[in-house]
Amino acid sequence: MMQLHSLGHTGIQITPVILGTWAIGGWMWGGPDDANAIEAIQESIDQGITTIDTAPFYGMGHSEEIVGKAIKGKRNKLIIATKCGMRWDSEEGSAPQTQYNREGKSFTIRKTLRPASIFKECDESLKRLGIEYIDLYQIHWPDPATPMEESWDAMVQLKKRGKVRAIGVCNYELEQLKAIHAIHPVDSLQPPYSLLRRGIENEVIPFCQKQRISVIVYSPLERGLLTGKYTPKSHFPEGDHRVQKITFSESYLEQVQKALDLIRPLAVKHKATLAQVIIDCTIHRPGIAAALVGARNAAQAKENAQGATLHLSEEERALVAMAFANPKLQRPEYD
Ligand SMILES: NC(=O)c1ccc[n+]([C@@H]2O[C@H](COP(=O)([O-])OP(=O)(O)OC[C@H]3O[C@@H](n4cnc5c(N)ncnc54)[C@H](OP(=O)(O)O)[C@@H]3O)[C@@H](O)[C@H]2O)c1
Repeated sequence: MMQLHSLGHTGIQITPVILGTWAIGGWMWGGPDDANAIEAIQESIDQGITTIDTAPFYGMGHSEEIVGKAIKGKRNKLIIATKCGMRWDSEEGSAPQTQYNREGKSFTIRKTLRPASIFKECDESLKRLGIEYIDLYQIHWPDPATPMEESWDAMVQLKKRGKVRAIGVCNYELEQLKAIHAIHPVDSLQPPYSLLRRGIENEVIPFCQKQRISVIVYSPLERGLLTGKYTPKSHFPEGDHRVQKITFSESYLEQVQKALDLIRPLAVKHKATLAQVIIDCTIHRPGIAAALVGARNAAQAKENAQGATLHLSEEERALVAMAFANPKLQRPEYD
């Protein structure tokens, strides 16, 4: 049985493993594969995962559309989380971020959290997802050009109007989180976190625990790295962002493989995969409400969902965390 977590200041129950759907949008992950993506979502649901995280930005609407298709007829059993603040279809907002080409179209990505933009994005997400309300609506990235209070007030308005049931933020610094939490309670924070990236344990998690803000962490497998399947000889498809990441560089990969070798016997003992051991340890770290785990096909979805019911002992979890604790391996919150 999966132990459910009560989301922030709401009674909404979320699963400890949440299906992340960034990769299935295709953008930055070498392109989409819709059939596999739909199977991944449906398999997650069959395995008992009730909570799905997406964003308009994931494939410029594509991930939300895929989620919408996959959840038809099942919406009432599910908790759907999406986001706002990253636009590809607007002239407003901070300096252009990235040029992106898809199917012959070019997109310019901008951050904007102006209230009118948030309201528009919310309606568009509801349409793409084919749902009447969003369970958790999150600011994707801070927008330095819009006062935080104005953006947060717009999120509160959406909650009051019943378009969303809970509100949260991703990628906020502690001081930013404190500032908006003082205006209206924040239900969740979505930061990057893995056994290789534990910076939020020092100050962010204690604050969130005290304030009942659910910490829902992203990239717990370090984008596939902690499954152990990548070696310095691995190739990524064109357009996959991982080729440029320091965590996938040859020297870092070799060090991670050595750390993973230390926990292989434990995985064998529990008839589990490395990914499942990592997922179990991540969701049981103090103050972690849930981990968002990406899956690109049904096999990955099944494996990851079953990681939520592995139940290693506390001693075993401590040993796993220790395997990655070497300061040379630890990464900053963002890199
Ligand atoms: N708020 C934000 O700014 C933000 C940023 C990043 C992510 N997120 C959210 O967090 C979710 C998860 O993060 P993530 O997708 O970056 O990274 P992740 O969960 O650490 O890694 C996901 C990737 O690892 C590989 N993988 C997953 N399960 C596997 C398994 N059992 N066996 C082998 N390979 C497996 C797959 O890619 P390959 O098969 O190609 O290796 C998959 O796409 C995202 O989908 C998104 O919802 C949010």
